[in-house]
Amino acid sequence: MAERSTDIFKARSILDSGGIVAIPTETVYGLAGNALNEDAIISIYKAKNRPSFDPLIAHVSSIKQVESITNDIPEIAYKLAEKFWPGPLTMLLTKADHVPDILTSGLPRVAVRMPNHPLTLQLLESIDYPLAAPSANPFGYVSPTSADHVNDQMGDIIDLILDGGKTKIGVESTIVSFESEKIIVNRIGGLSIEKLEEFGPVSMNINQSSNPSAPGMLKSHYAPGKKVIIGNIDSLLDVYKERVGVLSFQKKYQNLPNQVLSSSGNLDEAANKLFSALRLLDKEDIDIIVTEKFPETGLGRAINDRLGRAAANN
Ligand code: TXA
Ligand code: MG
Repeated sequence: MAERSTDIFKARSILDSGGIVAIPTETVYGLAGNALNEDAIISIYKAKNRPSFDPLIAHVSSIKQVESITNDIPEIAYKLAEKFWPGPLTMLLTKADHVPDILTSGLPRVAVRMPNHPLTLQLLESIDYPLAAPSANPFGYVSPTSADHVNDQMGDIIDLILDGGKTKIGVESTIVSFESEKIIVNRIGGLSIEKLEEFGPVSMNINQSSNPSAPGMLKSHYAPGKKVIIGNIDSLLDVYKERVGVLSFQKKYQNLPNQVLSSSGNLDEAANKLFSALRLLDKEDIDIIVTEKFPETGLGRAINDRLGRAAANN
């Protein structure tokens, strides 16, 4: 069992000595260490059992800090940061030489994000290095949206969880990169495409392969332990009659394990509940989770992306 606390000074002292701590953000919980300390980064990879080809996001508390770890920031990146930070947006920017190569898995760009959580922002402001933090789950599993989730899977490996309650958004950040001033989306997440489109045309480069050249978007990522099948739930239930649970958008299904993500049809609420619902269904005595395609707008796209990856594990 890891200790849970809201004491940022305790977190800070662990981080200052090269250790790792789970931190809350508005998207999902992260497993944080000093992004400029190679040993701390190695500890993160080990704790998550994460392959070294999958780079980490550096979390910052200011644009100045971004400037200290990157080069050649395009104008559009400043604009997006001004509008969406702190918030669920990660930007891939040219890495400065002194940033450890293992943070970026040897890639020329570093991922940076200013998270929107008061505890973590205070923590970041109290230290003079960025925090490397992947989601605080074992590699390939659903991301944690509460301190309980972190403790369930990582409690024996880490000493401290900075407890910031349930996360507000519940899916990981949207990751973008730039081609000169053009926005490219590399991961669909907690910031909708519609909001990015207000800044100009947005193109998608979402990796779907099972052996991606752009790392971290393995097709089978975010998978729960059960078989996930996407389609028309009622028709699927005609076929799969036993040991089956349902993850539905609005409709309640009686007499079988069922998680409804938003009875009122709110996609933000649905995204917020997605990962805890998958965890709950994973604990049921079932073999199959049937679910449906969500509307391809707003955070519905992030939900579809994560469910698609979960289903790809089958
Ligand atoms: O919301 C989030 O982004 C959460 C919270 C903790 O901030 N973090 C998160 O980290 O989801 P992680 O490591 O689970 O996912 C980060 C993704 C990975 O798919 C990784 O491959 C990609 O970001 N990434 C990180 N650095 C990259 C880089 N330099 N180039 C390309 N992709 C990168
Ligand atoms: Mg992750």
